[in-house]
Amino acid sequence: MISSTGIPDVQQNMIHAPGGLFITVEGADGTGKTTHAGLLADRLRKEGRDTILTREPGGGGAVASALRELLLHGDDMADRTELLLFFAARSEHVAHVIRPAINSGSIVVCDRYTDSTLAYQGYGLNIPLEMIYRLHEIATGDLWPDLTILLDLDPAESADRLHDHNRMEGRGMEFQHRVRNGFLSLAETAADRYVIVPSSGPMEEVHAAVWDAVRARLPLQQTGCAGS
Ligand code: TMP
Repeated sequence: MISSTGIPDVQQNMIHAPGGLFITVEGADGTGKTTHAGLLADRLRKEGRDTILTREPGGGGAVASALRELLLHGDDMADRTELLLFFAARSEHVAHVIRPAINSGSIVVCDRYTDSTLAYQGYGLNIPLEMIYRLHEIATGDLWPDLTILLDLDPAESADRLHDHNRMEGRGMEFQHRVRNGFLSLAETAADRYVIVPSSGPMEEVHAAVWDAVRARLPLQQTGCAGS
């Protein structure tokens, strides 16, 4: 078929196989996102769900890994170069990991996805959101998550967890505030797929809130244990 971008896209009408679900975990730097994506994937596996844990940028093979290195630890680049490289990595990831997994009935837990691009390159770097939505359509065939967990924390509270580990963290507190507020605006715009989980409490409490949000949306087809 021809998508609204004018680009043929045979994958655009994909329907998840029974059991397939695409969950993303989002948040500004230092919100505990990676920890909670891992805990969620472990929990889903314990519940008997076939689950893949992956991340962006970098998930999707050698090309995406090389792009992660360039994006996070390479030399400075133009903002739009950065934007295009995030989408190049995402295109690899969707083609080689995410679509095959949800097409075969797995649950994909992905640590960051396009909402991070909207928050960091859109709200953070002031690249027009419209341009980002258009690139998303081209790079992914317009694949959006079924559920997005947003871990929310005031950057003042996460400041001690940020140590300029990568180019984004080195952009400073004002940038982190723009990113956080960007995520909160996105959650309002796409309220049907977003669940906001405050992440200032103890790890177990945050995990329990994440699990409640996910459990409510688990497909019933795969096992008899949904909702347990
Ligand atoms: P992380 O693996 O620690 O989350 O680091 C990835 C960094 O890249 C993080 O600072 C957020 C940033 N990022 C973007 O700026 N845009 C994107 O589209 C994605 C996926 C990540």
